[in-house]
Amino acid sequence: MASGAKWDPRFAAAGRGVVTDVDHDLTSDEVADKFREYISGKTVVITGCSSQSLGAEAARCIAQHGTKRLILASRSESRMRQVIECIRLSSELACEIIPVEMDLSSQQSVRSAAAEVLKLAPAIDILINSAAACMIPKYTTTPEGIEMTFGTNHIGHFLFTNLLMPALLASANARVVNVTSFGHQFSNVRFDDINFDNGKSYEPFLAYAASKSGNLLFTLGLAMKLGKTNLRAIATDPGSVQTGINRLVTKEESILRGWSLPDGQPNPAIKWTTPAKGVASYIKAAYDPDLANKNGVAITAGGMDQSIAAYALDREGAERLWELSEKLVGQTFEY
Ligand SMILES: NC(=O)c1ccc[n+]([C@@H]2O[C@H](COP(=O)([O-])OP(=O)(O)OC[C@H]3O[C@@H](n4cnc5c(N)ncnc54)[C@H](OP(=O)(O)O)[C@@H]3O)[C@@H](O)[C@H]2O)c1
Repeated sequence: MASGAKWDPRFAAAGRGVVTDVDHDLTSDEVADKFREYISGKTVVITGCSSQSLGAEAARCIAQHGTKRLILASRSESRMRQVIECIRLSSELACEIIPVEMDLSSQQSVRSAAAEVLKLAPAIDILINSAAACMIPKYTTTPEGIEMTFGTNHIGHFLFTNLLMPALLASANARVVNVTSFGHQFSNVRFDDINFDNGKSYEPFLAYAASKSGNLLFTLGLAMKLGKTNLRAIATDPGSVQTGINRLVTKEESILRGWSLPDGQPNPAIKWTTPAKGVASYIKAAYDPDLANKNGVAITAGGMDQSIAAYALDREGAERLWELSEKLVGQTFEY
């Protein structure tokens, strides 16, 4: 077992807290081997699935462990097709893998992707919200005028998840996995100023951090609103992994922020992990039956341990974010 604090049963009733018992040494395949019976025959939707992304590693692992149908929902069909080709090359699979193009930063795109997914899958067992925009250098907004990082990482997923809710509720045991980050610690959701004073005070990392707090509060919100149903929501932090996440960060900025050494190599002071070990936490969050009575919690393969920020565990904050999100998508979701 990994070191660090264990699950505290007091968190269960409140639907909060971090379970730190993800074994940091296990890979996605090793965790999936344990849960093969729960993976088998399921319909799964994963957002954010380009090559080298954690979504792609999750797709590979789940496809190779007997899932029936896998729907990838990501921005670029050609990048999803590369991932599908790779999965198919590595093994012969019975699993059906379908790409659905979706730009989470556009509510119109999210609505049409959700409609397509609902047609493909009247029942969805697992939704993994992995896609993220990170470190967008210049202030930009979505077509609806929402700061791009928050609009993509939280608002896009809020809308997508709620639009898919009829199919999730049609599954006997549905799970929503929201992928968050240790980075949430650097900012709460900017309830009073989501647009950084119209970009005047924009800071890319704070925008990412606020969106990752949004992922945690949304997980809690789902648990609060749908706790009486068959749906469970779990957040996970995969830890620090060399993926495409920092592709918008220049070498100079990465050095300045302490993420890279002066020669451009990853700073060894950061506890890096591999995609397979990071995604082990996705697999646990999605399938571990022991998490069924821990609705709304976060698990981690990375640095969150027990140090999840209080504001990201706050039930009033979760309610406030739900209302704000409904306002920003122009639709209410009551359960
Ligand atoms: N890697 C880490 O160190 C780390 C640490 C903590 C948490 N996380 C979290 O882990 C998750 C996965 O990150 P990653 O490392 O796999 O990052 P990544 O390699 O950058 O992959 C992100 C994926 O999201 C997609 N995406 C971005 N913007 C999108 C949009 N507007 N609409 C639809 N899809 C979009 C990307 O597609 P394109 O290729 O088209 O851009 C890509 O497939 C994220 O939630 C991230 O916050 C990562």
